[in-house]
Amino acid sequence: MKITKHHWPVLIVSGEFDFNTDDGLRLTELIEELEGEQELSIVQSLTYEDAAEIVRSRADIGAVVVDWNLPEEDDSEGLTAIDLIRTINERNARVPILLLADRLDTEDIPVEVLQKIDGYLWKTADTIEFLAGRIEMHLEKYIKTVAPDFFGMLVKYAQEYKYAWHTPGHMGGEGFLRSPAGVAFHKFFGENTLRSDLSISVPELGSLLDHSGVVGDAEKNSARVFGADHTYYILNGTSNVNQVIWRSQLVRDDIAFVDRNCHKSLNYAMVITDAIPIYMIPRRNMMGIIGPVRLSEFSPESISKKIQESSLVPEARKNETAKMSALTNSTYDGVCYNVIQIKKQLERTVENLHFDEAWYAYARFHPIYKDHFGMSDDDLNKEHPPIFCSQSTHKLLTALSQASMLHIRNGSKVKIEPDMFNESYMMHGSTSPQYSMIASLDVATKMMDDDGEIMMDDTIIEAIHFRKKMITILNDLRKANKGDWFFGMWQPHEVEIDGEAKKFEDVPAETLAKTQTAWIMSKDNPWHGFLDIEDDYAMLDPIKLTITTPGINDKGEMANEGIPASLVSNYLIDKGIVCEKTDYYSFLMLNSLGTTRGKQGTLLAELFKFKELYDRNAPLSEVFPAMVAASPEQYGKVGLKDHANDVHNYYKEQKILDSMQEGFQVIPDQAMKPSEAYHEVVRKNVEYVDLDDMMGRTPAVMMVPYPPGIPIMMGGEIMNEKARPIFDYLKQRQDFENAFPGYESDIHGVERDERDGKKYFKTLCIKK
Ligand SMILES: Cc1ncc(COP(=O)(O)O)c(C=O)c1O
Repeated sequence: MKITKHHWPVLIVSGEFDFNTDDGLRLTELIEELEGEQELSIVQSLTYEDAAEIVRSRADIGAVVVDWNLPEEDDSEGLTAIDLIRTINERNARVPILLLADRLDTEDIPVEVLQKIDGYLWKTADTIEFLAGRIEMHLEKYIKTVAPDFFGMLVKYAQEYKYAWHTPGHMGGEGFLRSPAGVAFHKFFGENTLRSDLSISVPELGSLLDHSGVVGDAEKNSARVFGADHTYYILNGTSNVNQVIWRSQLVRDDIAFVDRNCHKSLNYAMVITDAIPIYMIPRRNMMGIIGPVRLSEFSPESISKKIQESSLVPEARKNETAKMSALTNSTYDGVCYNVIQIKKQLERTVENLHFDEAWYAYARFHPIYKDHFGMSDDDLNKEHPPIFCSQSTHKLLTALSQASMLHIRNGSKVKIEPDMFNESYMMHGSTSPQYSMIASLDVATKMMDDDGEIMMDDTIIEAIHFRKKMITILNDLRKANKGDWFFGMWQPHEVEIDGEAKKFEDVPAETLAKTQTAWIMSKDNPWHGFLDIEDDYAMLDPIKLTITTPGINDKGEMANEGIPASLVSNYLIDKGIVCEKTDYYSFLMLNSLGTTRGKQGTLLAELFKFKELYDRNAPLSEVFPAMVAASPEQYGKVGLKDHANDVHNYYKEQKILDSMQEGFQVIPDQAMKPSEAYHEVVRKNVEYVDLDDMMGRTPAVMMVPYPPGIPIMMGGEIMNEKARPIFDYLKQRQDFENAFPGYESDIHGVERDERDGKKYFKTLCIKK
């Protein structure tokens, strides 16, 4: 299918469609001419309000024709033509606006409008052909600017219908048509997808591996838009970006200062670079929510102490600095760091700063995140080191899965030399990149460049509406029935607006979306539960929604009754709503450019349904039939409320949250580097060891329990007395799974053996 001007409708705003007046008849003729001769499509709107709504909800409008003088609305609060033009301009300042007016009207048209429109169409003076031609000309000019260059070139190439003599072997899709399964695939994905799946040897598209031609230009454009000196397009996700960054700067035995709350790809980056890790320990609050690493961890003294204490750094190297730091920004619970403060600390002690912003590529495009992302435009000091950011453009922007970006800001003295850096890029890049994925990075860049702030504003405001709605529901339920309950939100209860303390739910969403201080965590307003939080250091990202379940309060005190969050998230999964992460008493939902009101409404409706099931203690077989079928004796006669309380009381009696807290504060002794532990795996010098027998042993692989999804032990660390809190926590997880079949949660690096009807955890350890 070709994209033509027909795909970009002209919005016409007029009160005279189908009128039998002179103007009405001319309008009908104009529409006929546009639809017939010019082959355009038309969207009609009778009022300025309706037109504004269309502009807000449709990004495909290719031109707008606005009648300057619509008949007065009965409703005096209706929009005027000026309001509509402002709205169009705010949403998309590039789309052409043509004013349909009488020559006599021109005197009342204010300068502001003249500045925002692209021309007049005289209602009566010009011929219909001329008017239609003007509209078409503006539309065509506009649609030429819509596609960014690389994507535009890819479309052009795919539509030239060349005979492909290069890979991929399906050759523009033809190969699929030779066998029915292939035909089904071809029909599903369509000709355009397959025609644009091209080989790297197509010269018109430049070379991704050399960063030349249009694809190189697209990367340079992304660097400009994302605030970097260099940007690289990388496939295989941010997992791969992290490897490229580390491989470019670290060699064997370099010291790396790593967030313990890191993605597994950083652990593997340590393995492939053979680095020696020292760790930053994230704090947790009493509800088990992961918070920011303490600022003091970044001080030169703290880093130096960690190096001094490391058993892996030889005596002669104890005064060295770290080659790289790697911090997850934002944290998995949506806590974003004031990176200016961190940079100030680290610039003296770390040679390269890496911010892993896999979930946070949008931060640069909205003022609410000012100073809280790696590529912030701050006055970097003369000594500042190079900064690297890895971003999964595919996670919360609009790139296709696995399409990520790597951004680099040069240091004030140390510049990253592209030719040298490219060695690492080449080491991790395929010679067969998928060009539609690359084009999606180019398109994501243009979308953010053109409309980033407005799109983010919409997303943030939507998320805030949801937050406020949740609180209003809780308040209303309590008003009607004092002891009633609903889910909560992890967010401020009160915020300060213009020096006045106000209830969160009473502040308009638009104000909250503009007020960064409302989201900054402070000691004076400790809703977040991090009692020792530093000033102006961390903020909650409004679009990351942590929904809390009853059972524990802000201080970590457990109630007599409670609803562990996994029950709710499992219920939601059954209803087709998948949450991002589930903790003990909270779960995380993400808002992104793709979130719609309908999606949020469905979530609220399902939360209500869960509440109804819980309140009437519905049989578990009605809520989780598969779980009951698998363990009928245990769950067959239990109601949802009783079951929730059983799990809750188990957590409470076993003090599972306290154990988790303690387990994650320990950094165990290191017997060897993560890379050496992995080498033992390659040498097959490893064996499975039951958790019960693991004291004194060294796991060869990392263990990452979900929740919370942070490595509790890295390969090469020793399970000794110091690590006993880790052992105890894992043991509790094992006991819990035995007490509650069906609650087998993911623990990366841990396998289960089943013997005599009981589950035993086991992990690959290095042979003695
Ligand atoms: C902090 C962090 N870094 C890196 C990654 C890897 O990203 P990708 O899925 O794009 O490989 C993830 C994925 O969840 C992540 O959470």
